[in-house]
Amino acid sequence: MRRPVIAGNWKLNKTIGESLDLVRSLKPLVAEVTEVEIVVAPVYTALAAVAAELADSGIRLAAQNCYPEPSGAFTGEVSPALLKDAGCSHCIVGHSERRQLFGETDAFINAKTTSLLRAGLQVIFCIGETLEERESGQMFDVLSTQVREGLKDLTAQQMNNLIVAYEPVWAIGTGKTASNEQAEEAHAFIRGLLQGCFDQETAATTRILYGGSVKPDNVDGLMAQDDIDGTLVGGASLKAEDFARIVKFGK
Ligand code: G3P
Repeated sequence: MRRPVIAGNWKLNKTIGESLDLVRSLKPLVAEVTEVEIVVAPVYTALAAVAAELADSGIRLAAQNCYPEPSGAFTGEVSPALLKDAGCSHCIVGHSERRQLFGETDAFINAKTTSLLRAGLQVIFCIGETLEERESGQMFDVLSTQVREGLKDLTAQQMNNLIVAYEPVWAIGTGKTASNEQAEEAHAFIRGLLQGCFDQETAATTRILYGGSVKPDNVDGLMAQDDIDGTLVGGASLKAEDFARIVKFGK
């Protein structure tokens, strides 16, 4: 019922040329895969070139960030409409690196989410607790606040264009993946939150991705969980063979 999504977040890596090399290597490796929505998120400067390279493939393009205003005196920022113009179909918001390093609040993430949905883009909405929050028993409260505030005032209909990504901060880039059980527990909880905020149908149909040290050797166990509908991959998405293996999970 929920089409799996495997998304690669390239973060601050790769020149335009290196980005093109990566998608040129990736395309033939995943050409036969039709049952999975495949998304890659290069840096801003590579978006248009990668979009042209992906035009003859089923791979979709995401930006890693945006600014909620459509235009104006916002030096250095990029709006959802401009991302669409560059060929993006998706945009990541609320990544923990943006929350932690750039002080992004739930309200700001909500503004970006709303603006992206209005512009007709799909949102990959990230949430997740730190190790300290998990160990002090605040994990469920943190996730609950991030969902309630970040998705505030969205309609159930808008949720059709939103994918949630659960990324426990302690598992990002650390090599420490959440166990299958830890990830499933969080995903089931998030699905329950969506039911509370929206309705049963929205909770049942929204894709919830897991992110945090996803690799070819742990993806199968994660994807076997009932409430895990895909993965948001950082480091392992920078190598075509590794990312293709993750796309072909369970095979
Ligand atoms: O958005 C993806 C992410 O933060 C996970 O990164 O390198 O742990 O797969 P990584």
